[in-house]
Amino acid sequence: MDLQNYVRDIKDFPKEGVTYKDITPLLLSPEATNFALQQFVVKLKDMRIDKVVGIESRGFFFGTLLAKELNVGFIPVRKPGKLPAETHTESYDLEYGKDTLEIHADAIKKGEQILLHDDVLATGGTAKATCNLIERCGGEVVYCNFLVKLLFLNGGEKLNNYNVHSLIEY
Ligand code: PRP
Ligand code: MG
Repeated sequence: MDLQNYVRDIKDFPKEGVTYKDITPLLLSPEATNFALQQFVVKLKDMRIDKVVGIESRGFFFGTLLAKELNVGFIPVRKPGKLPAETHTESYDLEYGKDTLEIHADAIKKGEQILLHDDVLATGGTAKATCNLIERCGGEVVYCNFLVKLLFLNGGEKLNNYNVHSLIEY
């Protein structure tokens, strides 16, 4: 199955000059969703994963499916002000301006091996900030998992100390 057939380009979204990689066609297909999930887990079979961290909001789709498949807990990393208990917070630079992400401070036990999941790796700012959050909780980021990696944005460079995998590259 060619998963690229289930990711569509939306030109000039969310702003002019940006081409948005829309994974909703993939989510609409149970066959493609299950295929992607199996492609993810086959690479993880010799690894110890204690928990999955998914990044709001598009990282929640496969993040929770992956956690269920691996039979481990799921941790949401959220945009500011959404998590109710004590949090760690990381701000990171965007092309224009700044963004912030949060994690529950008690979600990870020291030394736990964490899989980070998001739908798309673009500039890498989102994923790197999430790695920092996981480490501040005492976790070890053993695997960074993406559906799509946009090679021309060099997000992999920000994650060069990590084990980075994606199913589709552009
Ligand atoms: C998109 C995408 C990744 C992030 C990648 O999320 O889902 O999380 O951008 O960008 P980066 O590698 O340049 O940091 P977005 O902020 O659009 O929010 P959403 O997931 O809530 O749609
Ligand atoms: Mg996102």
